[in-house]
Amino acid sequence: MSSTFSMVASHSRRTEGEDKIFAANSAAQSAAKTIGPDRVVNASVGALLDDDGSLSVLPTVIELLKNLPAEEYAAYAPIGGLPGFLEAAKKAAFGDFVPNGYIEAVATPGGSGAIRHAIWNYSEMGDAVLTSDWYWGPYKTIAEEHGRKIETYTFFDERDCFHLSSFQRKVHELLQRQNALVILLNSPAHNPTGYSLTMEEWNAVFDCLKAEAANKEKRIILFSDIAYIDFAGNPKESRAFMKLFGNLPENILTIVAFSMSKGYTLYGMRCGAMICISSRKEAAEEFKTVNQFSNRGVWSNGTRPAMTVLTKIFSDPQLLEQIEKERQVLQTLLTERAESFIQEAKRVNLKICPYKAGFFITIPCKYPDAVVAELQKEYIFTVPLGKGIRFAVCSVSKDKCTLVPQKIAAVINKLENL
Ligand SMILES: Cc1ncc(COP(=O)(O)O)c(C=O)c1O
Repeated sequence: MSSTFSMVASHSRRTEGEDKIFAANSAAQSAAKTIGPDRVVNASVGALLDDDGSLSVLPTVIELLKNLPAEEYAAYAPIGGLPGFLEAAKKAAFGDFVPNGYIEAVATPGGSGAIRHAIWNYSEMGDAVLTSDWYWGPYKTIAEEHGRKIETYTFFDERDCFHLSSFQRKVHELLQRQNALVILLNSPAHNPTGYSLTMEEWNAVFDCLKAEAANKEKRIILFSDIAYIDFAGNPKESRAFMKLFGNLPENILTIVAFSMSKGYTLYGMRCGAMICISSRKEAAEEFKTVNQFSNRGVWSNGTRPAMTVLTKIFSDPQLLEQIEKERQVLQTLLTERAESFIQEAKRVNLKICPYKAGFFITIPCKYPDAVVAELQKEYIFTVPLGKGIRFAVCSVSKDKCTLVPQKIAAVINKLENL
């Protein structure tokens, strides 16, 4: 039998093995077992951890979950999600900045589920889906899994701001080639860079999209990935941009991906929602119909206990306040770690991508895989990206965040000056 023989259907043949993030994490864990956790810096994990390496949780959320009656665990949820949950998800996503328009929501297994449905239901087979050149790897996986591909624009200009002209060029170019364009935009607290678009930048994004939407044959879908919004600083300011999702031309649809993974520390419960905003009632209704259908066709219904927890939180102001307080403690921990890393990076002249908030800091470099491998020899575990390495400040103590930039700078200097 030839070495190219495969049992797998032709569209599913892949060469890629283990996810790089999970691979780095298992290497870090086995190093910790051998030499002790104190000597290991595991900056690969995309979850907020306490200084001792255990998962940070919001105690009130966990208590609510634990105290649910048996049937809340055992029963199915409706295919589209519990109605109370869908209302709560809208409140959690928009806060005080509910956009004007027809709004519908469908429950999904986290933000990932929303990405899947948006790509599948709003781009054509073979289309390019647009995102920035720094992006979360699974965007590509999900696009390719569904017969699409990712194309990118340059995220940062020479002033380390949003590269508007690159975005405009790429949107225009793709809309010359295809009639539908799904744009994945992860802000605030972008993964992997920590960038958040300013209001001015958001306005410019919509000016560009509105200009393109003058051609009524085109359909533009702005997918707003807000996975990290609850760790993006002031909860009001960080949501203000969502007002811009209202009053748009009928051929622009905005989809907000709400997730309970980070903001409610329920990563494993796989619960979130996709929420659309449209100036056309029929487009919002169609959104509900097609995405519910996709739920049924891909994973059936979502995780009922997590939905019930969110419903309870948003029907009790005291509970919500309590959770916000607990989250603030985690936000402070995260900010302190990031600040320590950034200060030290400045001191040792280590260039990083413009960070404003969030779980990750990215260090651009020429040889990411080699840098990651070299750092592993010093028991520092990071994730290689196409044009740099990702350091998860969310999972590393402040002390370690202070020690590491110098080591990274030394490795990069060594490899780039060979
Ligand atoms: C940028 C980004 N979007 C979406 C997600 C989706 O997470 P989940 O499916 O757990 O909601 C993540 C998780 O790491 C992420 O980093």
